[in-house]
Amino acid sequence: MMEQTAKNILDSKQNDVIVEISHLKKTFGSNEVLKDINIKINKGENLVVLGKSGSGKSVLIKCLVGLINPDEGKMIALEKNISELKIDELNSIRKKIGFLFQSGALYDSMTVRENLLFPLRDLKEISKEEKIKLVEEALKNVGLEDTIDKMPSELSGGMRKRLGLARTLILKPEIMLYDEPTTGLDPITSKEISELILEVQKKYNTSSIIITHDMACAKITANRMIVLKEGVIDAEGTFDELEKSEDKWIRSFFE
Ligand SMILES: Nc1ncnc2c1ncn2[C@@H]1O[C@H](COP(=O)(O)OP(=O)(O)OP(=O)(O)O)[C@@H](O)[C@H]1O
Ligand SMILES: [Mg+2]
Repeated sequence: MMEQTAKNILDSKQNDVIVEISHLKKTFGSNEVLKDINIKINKGENLVVLGKSGSGKSVLIKCLVGLINPDEGKMIALEKNISELKIDELNSIRKKIGFLFQSGALYDSMTVRENLLFPLRDLKEISKEEKIKLVEEALKNVGLEDTIDKMPSELSGGMRKRLGLARTLILKPEIMLYDEPTTGLDPITSKEISELILEVQKKYNTSSIIITHDMACAKITANRMIVLKEGVIDAEGTFDELEKSEDKWIRSFFE
C-alpha cells in the first residue's frame, strides 16, 4: 500500500476535476464553430488552448461562463451545471471564475484604485479598509503599486494587461480564463505576464484555461495543451509532446 505523505495527498487532490465540458456544441447560423468539445481540468492545472484564429477558442470560454449559450452539451464548473443555473447562481459562480478578456476591458474613466475596487463593490461583509488592503495586495502581485492614483490611459499596454489581471484576481478566483494574455506585448513583457500566470497558479492553486498564440507563454504556463480544429479537439499533450508531434500542422504552431 502506498504510504500517506503530504505529497501524495496533494497528488490525489490534484486529481479533483474542477471543470468538465462534455459534448459542447455551438453553431452561429450555418457556422458550426464547436461540434463536439470534451475537456476536463484538474484542480491547480493550467490548460493551454491552441487553434487558428476563428477556430472557436473565445467562444469556448464564453460558453463556460454563460456569456454564450451553447446549443448542446454539459459544462460542470466547481460542481455546478452552468446551463442550469438561475441568474443569481450564475452571478455567484462568476465571482469564482476570473476572466481576463482579450481586450483587457478596463474602465477608462476610473483611476487604477477605482478599477480595482469595482469588483468588490457588492461585498458588504468586507470593510472599506479591508477593500483598500485587497487593492494594494492585488497591485503588489502584479508590480503596479506605484500606479494606484493613475488613470488607465497613463499606463502602457503591458501595464494595462497587468492591471486587468490584478482586477480579475482580486476576488481570488478558483478558475481563471485567460484569453490571449500576452498578445500585442513585447517578448519581455509577455514573459513577465506568463510568469505572473504561473505565480497565480502556485500561490492560489488556481485551475486555468489559457488561450494563446504565444508559444513562449505556452511553454512557461502549460501543464497540458489541447489544439482546437474544425470544432473538435484535434490533439492533446504536453508542450514537448505536441512540439514533437508527427502531425506537420500541429508542429507548425511551434515554428
Ligand atoms: N456572437 C457571435 N455571433 C456570431 N458569430 C460569432 C459570435 N462569436 C463568435 N462568432 C464566430 O465564431 C467563430 C469563432 O470565433 P472565436 O472568437 O471563438 O475565435 P477565436 O478562436 O477566439 O479566434 P482569435 O484567435 O482570432 O481570437 C468565428 O467564425 C466568429 O465569427
Ligand atoms: Mg479569440
